[in-house]
Amino acid sequence: MIGLGICLDFISHFTVFISIVLGIANRDNMTGASFGLSMSSALKLSVFLAWFVKVLSEMETHIVSVERIDEYTKTENEAAWVTDHHPDPSWPQEGNIDFENFDLRYRPGLELVLKGITCHIKGGEKIGIVGRTGAGKSSLTVSLFRLIEGAGGTIVIDNEPIDKLGLHDLRSRITILPQDPVLFSGSIRMNLDPLNKYTDDQIWQALHVAHLKPFVLALPSQLEYRCIEGGQNLSVGQRQLMCLARSVLKKTRILVLDEATAAVDMDTDDLIQKTIRNEFKNTTILAIAHRLNTILDYDKVMVLDAGKLVEFGKPEALLKDPDSLFYGMVKDAGLQA
Ligand SMILES: Nc1ncnc2c1ncn2[C@@H]1O[C@H](COP(=O)(O)OP(=O)(O)O)[C@@H](O)[C@H]1O
Ligand SMILES: [Mg+2]
Repeated sequence: MIGLGICLDFISHFTVFISIVLGIANRDNMTGASFGLSMSSALKLSVFLAWFVKVLSEMETHIVSVERIDEYTKTENEAAWVTDHHPDPSWPQEGNIDFENFDLRYRPGLELVLKGITCHIKGGEKIGIVGRTGAGKSSLTVSLFRLIEGAGGTIVIDNEPIDKLGLHDLRSRITILPQDPVLFSGSIRMNLDPLNKYTDDQIWQALHVAHLKPFVLALPSQLEYRCIEGGQNLSVGQRQLMCLARSVLKKTRILVLDEATAAVDMDTDDLIQKTIRNEFKNTTILAIAHRLNTILDYDKVMVLDAGKLVEFGKPEALLKDPDSLFYGMVKDAGLQA
């Protein structure tokens, strides 16, 4: 900005200088009045130039909003929130999930991140999903919510192909505990129960189950304690527990855990795993595990590698086969010799 100011001053002073030189060179044909006029006009230039640049840059910042609106009008919409086809109010009754040759890519033109996933998950089963970073574990779980639409194949939950449903119907019936916990600015109560559907007792019970009750009891205003934007005044682990409490309240037939306890200590993790087992007995659970020991007693394990489902079976069966990827992972984690 200083550079620009010097530059503009230089231009205007240079113009003044030139007009003086020309005036002197031309002094025989010029009256004093016209020389004065040319001088005062040249002097005005410095003020005018500064004003002109200011207006120009202001216009540029304002036009950004127009550009942004133009861009938004061109972005593709999500699928319809509600469609003519409504699932049964009690859907999903059992929580069966069938992936049939399911493909997924993030954007047209990009590589497939899930390739031909085919598997059948029975209602109430607890499934552990493992695989390297980037194998497609999170992608598999977000595809259940249709955050990204499939590129091929279908997912059927309790006889309803999910691509026929409206997004509101679908997303309100399943719960996810995400990798990065989301809180909003507002009271703890509002964060757990934004629609005001539950009583205080139910909320305290959920906090108890999520092992947060002592923490909230110790806060000055308890349930009315204000979380700031993004929950920055709680630790990441506490935020994850808040999300757990939220899902305990909502209690749907299908629960997805995406490394939901990555930021809490081992002991709390063990407690939470117990809680999940007790509270969600009949719920189908898809859990992306970061600590393999938490899923060793699950019903089945899904091993993903580069977007493909390479192993799917009971953990004991996979552990019997020393050539299986799961065996290798468990061994690397030092859980079994
Ligand atoms: N928003 C995104 N846009 C494009 N590609 C993505 C996006 N998120 C993830 N991916 C790609 O999808 C693949 C699987 O990612 P992800 O499902 O997050 O892996 P995981 O959870 O198993 O670590 C990665 O190769 C990654 O590059
Ligand atoms: Mg992930």
